[in-house]
Amino acid sequence: QERLKGFGKAAEFSARRVHVIGAGVMGGDIAAWCALRGMTVTLQDQSLERMGPALQRANKLFTRRLRDPLKARAAFDRLIPDVNGDGVAHADVVIEAIFENVEAKHALFKALEPRLKPGAVLATNTSSLKLEDLRTVLQQPERLVGIHFFNPVAMMPLVEVVQAEGADPDAVQAACAFVRQIDKLPLPVKSAPGFLVNAVLAPYMLAAMRAVDEGISPETVDEAMLAFGMPMGPIELVDTVGLDIALAAGQQLAGGAAAPRCLLARVEKNQLGKKSGQGFYAWADGKAKKGS
Ligand code: NAI
Repeated sequence: QERLKGFGKAAEFSARRVHVIGAGVMGGDIAAWCALRGMTVTLQDQSLERMGPALQRANKLFTRRLRDPLKARAAFDRLIPDVNGDGVAHADVVIEAIFENVEAKHALFKALEPRLKPGAVLATNTSSLKLEDLRTVLQQPERLVGIHFFNPVAMMPLVEVVQAEGADPDAVQAACAFVRQIDKLPLPVKSAPGFLVNAVLAPYMLAAMRAVDEGISPETVDEAMLAFGMPMGPIELVDTVGLDIALAAGQQLAGGAAAPRCLLARVEKNQLGKKSGQGFYAWADGKAKKGS
């Protein structure tokens, strides 16, 4: 109870320090976004080398968005690589964005919980795991919330704030306040497969890949949906999200239907999309090379 005291004032919750664990596609960009928006951010991964690409992307984001080199430099200084996770003890918000694997997340949460400061928000960015399963290792399971960003973080205004059964309402409110603080739009959702957005999006992406299985080219599928008015084609979106993540999410949301063959074949070859340089398209300098 003592540890939760800080939540009493959730309506006034205001974060200054954020700790992000996992400097991959999502964690790296979440950390950069928070630093851009004025937070002091510690970013943790298994080694400094693993954080290199995230720091490079952050530098590009700051330069592009802030224009003034001094401001960009200040934002970069606010983003602190932290291999040992020393930032946890000072963070108002801790966001986990490591591999989508229950055992890995359990091990992390066990080690994290005793280091959290009272009233800190403990959040997971998981897209497909149940919060009810993730929080079983916590002494205070009610404090875990989902803060589910979308990819690419800098472009997507919506953030789902996920409330599991029996979650502390103050923790959820504090998470919503934090999301507003970083100029994103919080959408409170219940803990259900796909939450809201992916429950709608997954069948659309699966249908696009089934069309590819039937022999329609990825370019044709994407062009059709672009002409329809979507900002990005569904196949390019799969490449952006990561084919492994799309496969895991699809397995959970497809109601037992077999995964598209075109997706399985590429995941087997470790062609995971934008992050690996090859998916349905070849990727260079952050752009898909159509017709590859
Ligand atoms: P990723 O594979 O790109 O990055 C994961 C990172 O976590 C890696 O850099 C890895 O070294 C690090 N890591 C793993 N175990 C660690 C540990 N114990 N301590 C510190 N670092 C550790 O994964 P991605 O795509 O960024 O996904 C991360 C989370 O975000 C997953 O839970 C996923 O479901 C979720 N998510 C992914 C989205 C996407 O479009 N890829 C969208 C929204 C949520």
